[in-house]
Amino acid sequence: MRKRNAAMSFIVLLLSSAGVISIGGVEAADSVSKSTRSCTKMDFGKMPDGTPVELYVLSNGRVTAKVITYGGIVTELHVPDKKGKTEDVVLGFDSLKGYLSGNPYFGAIVGRFANRIAGGKFTLDGKDYKLAVNNGPNSLHGGIKAFDKVVWKAEDASGADGPAVKLTHLSPDGDEGYPGNLSVSVTYTVTNDDALKIDYKATTDKATPLNLTNHSYFNLAGPASGTVLDHELKLATDKYTVADDTLIPTGEIKSARGTPLDFTTSTPIGKHMNGLKADPIGYDHNYVLPGDGKSPKLAATVYEPSSGRVMEVFTTEPGVQFYTGNFLDGTLTGKGGVPYRKHQGFCLETQHYPDSVHHPEFPSTILRPGSTYTQTTIYKFSTR
Ligand code: BGC
Repeated sequence: MRKRNAAMSFIVLLLSSAGVISIGGVEAADSVSKSTRSCTKMDFGKMPDGTPVELYVLSNGRVTAKVITYGGIVTELHVPDKKGKTEDVVLGFDSLKGYLSGNPYFGAIVGRFANRIAGGKFTLDGKDYKLAVNNGPNSLHGGIKAFDKVVWKAEDASGADGPAVKLTHLSPDGDEGYPGNLSVSVTYTVTNDDALKIDYKATTDKATPLNLTNHSYFNLAGPASGTVLDHELKLATDKYTVADDTLIPTGEIKSARGTPLDFTTSTPIGKHMNGLKADPIGYDHNYVLPGDGKSPKLAATVYEPSSGRVMEVFTTEPGVQFYTGNFLDGTLTGKGGVPYRKHQGFCLETQHYPDSVHHPEFPSTILRPGSTYTQTTIYKFSTR
């Protein structure tokens, strides 16, 4: 058994070569792997206006996550398979240029409001607010220049849990049409038990809708391996929010049992996909989770048979958008020159329900002054 409370010593090395700015590490006496935990900061290029973008490499010696300050994007996530061979299991690009050239939120922090707001407008405390309409008739993922497209401030936040980076951002009053100065932090930790943990926090000085998530596209066999249709998914729920043709919930919550949406038992993602009424075909549905906002609860388990990799998702959130990369069409070329085609990655975006601002019967997404928004989601890796 791994000794979790092992005595730790903190090392800081300064390297001047190859763009490496600093290394902070936590070395732990670990009876199993003698792992070295480290948080390394590097350059990742510059924004068109000259703002530098940093890359943080977080590693516990087995799992390594790379996070950039542009969009808080998880650019790489290296995870061992059943033979111990490590592979990057998320879609993304080799350089900043790829991320700046337009992409469907690969690995990014999404906010202020993940998912859709009908008609790009809402009324809060008697006041009407207008948002950018950027997805058919609706507003999607916080607008035009949302949290996925800003450069976050970052600091090494490594601690007993493992190597970590804390990203912070101040979204000003009126940002993308949303009210209030919103102060947000997102901390990524590669934990001692092989998880990528994401802790979100926010406060505001005016009431605002808030719904944060991470938009990583996973392929547990590696993005170059093809589609994710053979991955087996089990969801900790049989319920989903019924939506209209533009993916706005009608308000009805329905059982998925016996339908192509049923993942109450471990089922290959592609098995019942053709029974869906969707164009392009694929999953893009919000499932209702047991999350109560307090401690993270199991939401989903994904198993990839060829590598044996297992990813469990735990979250405090009441919902998860399961999306199977339906709009990927081979026109984006990702890491290592691999074109990303339909269904080459899947997302499990833990969040509140879409369009909650128009559904008082859904768990509330309104953050008020004096309260703190918190969200924790854990993507935990193992093999079978
Ligand atoms: C949405 C999809 C969308 C994707 C990329 C998902 O959260 O539900 O409809 O295509 O994000 O923007």
